[in-house]
Amino acid sequence: MQSLTSFFKRKILRIDRDRWNYQYDKGLWDGLKGLDELARFSVIVGYVKYLKPGQPELLEIGCGAGFLQQRLQTQNYGRFVALDISDSAIQAAQAQADEKCTYLVADMDKYEPGGQFDLIIFNESIYYSKHPLKTLQRYATYLKANGLLIVTINNHKHSDELWTSIKDGFELLDEATTVTSKSTCVCKVLIPLKIKS
Ligand SMILES: C[S@@+](CC[C@H](N)C(=O)[O-])C[C@H]1O[C@@H](n2cnc3c(N)ncnc32)[C@H](O)[C@@H]1O
Repeated sequence: MQSLTSFFKRKILRIDRDRWNYQYDKGLWDGLKGLDELARFSVIVGYVKYLKPGQPELLEIGCGAGFLQQRLQTQNYGRFVALDISDSAIQAAQAQADEKCTYLVADMDKYEPGGQFDLIIFNESIYYSKHPLKTLQRYATYLKANGLLIVTINNHKHSDELWTSIKDGFELLDEATTVTSKSTCVCKVLIPLKIKS
């Protein structure tokens, strides 16, 4: 019975959106709001307030249940657009949103933003793109002049490889590493290089 159940789960959960919804509905990502995740959010909040003070327009890709927007607080953004592939995550995010926020269910590899942004943030989400460098470069075209990307990647066995794969498209403005009781996370602020045609 056990193996039949797991076979069934594997089959029906093979589509990305269903798999993420299943995980959110089961509470498997509730830990993202824990104290041991606070440091990486705090670094992003600090970068946003320092680099784009006032009312910046922000786009977050793979926003989960909206914890970044909640930690940032409404006075620190003029517009906050965020997307995630999981309906369940977006539903949870919307429940905490204010009138400056737009939360969308979308696939980061397909979504085309409306308008330009001061900062585009990938917080623990760039792993899930099929082509991380191309995805970052594509989103960079939706940055205003002097706009920046903020990317965090948790340290794991493939993280160096992932940073190396994206480094050619960007100049590094700054980086900060947070170490908590749970994990080590690197946050980089990236300036897009002009893509040669
Ligand atoms: C590790 S969680 C991080 C969530 C949030 N950024 C945070 O730090 O709390 C990764 C998120 O990426 C989302 N995701 C995965 N693949 C995606 C895709 N193709 N398009 C958009 N979001 C995706 C997942 O649903 C999940 O919410």
